[in-house]
Amino acid sequence: MLTLGIETSCDETSAAVVEDGRRILSNVVSSQVAMHAAFGGVVPELAARSHVERLPAVVDEALGIAGVGLESIELVAVTRGPGLVGALLTGVGFAAALGWERGIPVVGVSHLDGHLHSAFLEDHATGYPLLVLVVSGGHTELILNRAPGQYELMGRTLDDAAGEAFDKVARMLGLAYPGGPEIERAARSAPALGDRWQPLGPIRVPGLDFSFSGIKTAVRYRLERIAGRPQGAGLEGADPPQWPAELVAAAALDFQGRAVGHLVDKLEAAVRKANPASVAVVGGVALNGALRSATRARLAAVMAQPDLVVFPGASLCTDNAAMIAAAGHALYGRGLGKSLRVDPSLRWESAA
Ligand code: KG4
Ligand code: ZN
Repeated sequence: MLTLGIETSCDETSAAVVEDGRRILSNVVSSQVAMHAAFGGVVPELAARSHVERLPAVVDEALGIAGVGLESIELVAVTRGPGLVGALLTGVGFAAALGWERGIPVVGVSHLDGHLHSAFLEDHATGYPLLVLVVSGGHTELILNRAPGQYELMGRTLDDAAGEAFDKVARMLGLAYPGGPEIERAARSAPALGDRWQPLGPIRVPGLDFSFSGIKTAVRYRLERIAGRPQGAGLEGADPPQWPAELVAAAALDFQGRAVGHLVDKLEAAVRKANPASVAVVGGVALNGALRSATRARLAAVMAQPDLVVFPGASLCTDNAAMIAAAGHALYGRGLGKSLRVDPSLRWESAA
């Protein structure tokens, strides 16, 4: 069965053709990052307008690369939430029209469900129960997936998402958007913290929940103190202040270390609690090299089969339509996903 996936929840316009929910025939992503970078973050109205402009060509390209015509598509899967309402509406409207015109079913998919399914798209060895850490620009959640479609929320962020914290700290440091890769690059240029930068304390939050707002503020105060600037001056403005390069590198290294340590602490605690057969780390922040190595090192000691720790390939970590097609195919197989109602705060789509 060929599924056409469509993803427009934020700033990537994406379409993909996936066979039987597993084999990717094409996965085209048209990123709006360059357009939003000038504003230091995603501008919702611009994102929605740009999706409308880009979608037809992106879908054509996905079909072309897959080498199939629209008449071969048997199912359309589209993200109906969570995300930016205007952006979501463009994808859902397009998918609904396509389904109606072709007389084929259209399923509405949770973007979170999509990220989870990125773990199943490359023949990684997995097993149930699967513990999933979703770390993206909008979400930080620990989900126990006991069986297909059965999700149990074990922990989540109480404030900012992990990727959001990377983006905000990067902005504070005068680095470009999106901030995650920039922080990682800056951290790599600092083999160790400088003499002037004393390490920040670890993040402490009870249970399996996360918090990233404290660490962000701690970085800011430390920067201001070391640089001898007044506290909070101009940090939220359009023009963040310039900091000395060695200070930026030390701040990036320390922040990344604390953020990764926090994620891995909670992941390890969740593994000890739930004893999953496999673990998947998905979403944009899963691209982070420090997170990947720390996760593998830490889980090697607590998992029966440490090789069952999955990090999807780079193109499947950030937003893409192949993961939406995979999730949609699974929903359709269970007779679910019939609602196409756009829901900006949609949660996990558990099997009813
Ligand atoms: O999954 P995604 O593409 O979009 C959302 O659903 O949010 O994730 C984007 C997020 C951004 O916050 C970006 O800064 C972060 O993923 N990110 C990273 C890295 N690459 C992307 N964070 C840390 N390290 C990276 N290498
Ligand atoms: Zn995402």
